[in-house]
Amino acid sequence: MTTYRIYKLTDRVYLLRLDDTDTRFFEGIWPIPEGITYNAYIVMTSEGAILIDGWKREFSSIFIDAIESIIDLRDIKKIIVQHTEPDHTGTLNILLRLLENVELLGTQFAKSMLEGFLGRSLPNFRPLKDGEKIVLGDVELTFIHTPWLHWPDTAMTYYADEKILFTCDAFGGYSIPRSFIDSSDSVIEEYLPHARDYFANIVAKYSQHVIKAVDKLVSIGINYRIIAPGHGLVWVNKPDIIVRSYLAWARGERFSGKFKVVVIYSSMYGNVEEMIMSIVKKLEEKDIELKIYKFTDKVHSNKSDVLGDSLDSDLIVLGASTYEGSLNPLIDNLVSMICSKFKGLRKRFIIISSYGWASSADKELTRRLSEAGMEILKNVTYRGRPSRDLMDKISEEISKIVDELRRA
Ligand SMILES: Cc1cc2nc3c(=O)[nH]c(=O)nc-3n(C[C@H](O)[C@H](O)[C@H](O)COP(=O)(O)O)c2cc1C
Ligand SMILES: [Fe+2]
Ligand SMILES: [Fe+2]
Repeated sequence: MTTYRIYKLTDRVYLLRLDDTDTRFFEGIWPIPEGITYNAYIVMTSEGAILIDGWKREFSSIFIDAIESIIDLRDIKKIIVQHTEPDHTGTLNILLRLLENVELLGTQFAKSMLEGFLGRSLPNFRPLKDGEKIVLGDVELTFIHTPWLHWPDTAMTYYADEKILFTCDAFGGYSIPRSFIDSSDSVIEEYLPHARDYFANIVAKYSQHVIKAVDKLVSIGINYRIIAPGHGLVWVNKPDIIVRSYLAWARGERFSGKFKVVVIYSSMYGNVEEMIMSIVKKLEEKDIELKIYKFTDKVHSNKSDVLGDSLDSDLIVLGASTYEGSLNPLIDNLVSMICSKFKGLRKRFIIISSYGWASSADKELTRRLSEAGMEILKNVTYRGRPSRDLMDKISEEISKIVDELRRA
């Protein structure tokens, strides 16, 4: 059930967490059976409160309840908009109706975008420069521009006295963690794959900007003790884990774990599947992590996980048959996303395809993956059903490729 929960992070800072179990496809695209949270924060000062971010519009009235469970709504003097995407700004309209004079703060980009999303001009919006201070009573915050995480408007806010860095989408993740904070290794272990999927789906296209932003935080001396994102876990004990994970994913690398092979395939009548199963059987003998995602007449795998596991894989085995002069449309769509979001990350691929009269899936996949800078280690195509001999030969060859990659 969708519900909100309040957590007192420090004497001055509250987390207002909306646990959304209603949204089944994030941004209408990414399946999230694990749910997602929207994290807003209230910073108390000697002269009222500062609100950082908000929730999705459909949760507007419970957002007001959540705020009023902590303070009088009219105590909010400033609202910082770190990112205008409606999962964090949907609740602004109701707030602006109730708080006519509240000051809105964000980047110049955020102002124009927000005016578009809310359908009104915002005379009380004050664009902030990079590094500008936000002062209310005895609290001083620093506003840091971090563009393209993952929109042009994005920024972070640093509360130096408490060493808290508010980061909105950056360092966020899917799921509704059972704890507000990184309270134990098992909470972290459970959460990281969801953060990785979120990174792959939402942030990966802008990986270079993640690296730039982390460099910038270091170069301007941001000495955070707490990372407080707009989704998922708040990092109080081991904030470096999420920062180092984001950096690893931005380079298309694994943060931890064994050599990982991801198998993704579609099969209409089993001709691609038969070859894939023979390869999988051989790979199962090895001490590696093996993830299998399929699109058949019985099962359609979760696309968010396909992207997430592909991002930090060591090798991807991709199977698709020829379909109407091109390739299976479900794999077509996944490959488009992989090529767009992971462009330049040089992931390694093996292509498996089957055809009826004239093979095109293999050519189409080769062209698209090469154009995106991916590495193709092997390309196998055959007519109809694969023979036993062919399956044995190809499985053996792929097994050797994996052994060589593991040794390298
Ligand atoms: C709707 C549909 C469209 C197809 N289009 C082509 C095509 O354009 N060219 C071709 O060579 N084979 C085409 N085929 C044949 C398949 O590529 C071939 O049967 C293949 O072995 C199917 O493998 P699968 O059962 O693993 O999906 C098509 C098959 C279907 C069902
Ligand atoms: Fe966003
Ligand atoms: Fe978001």
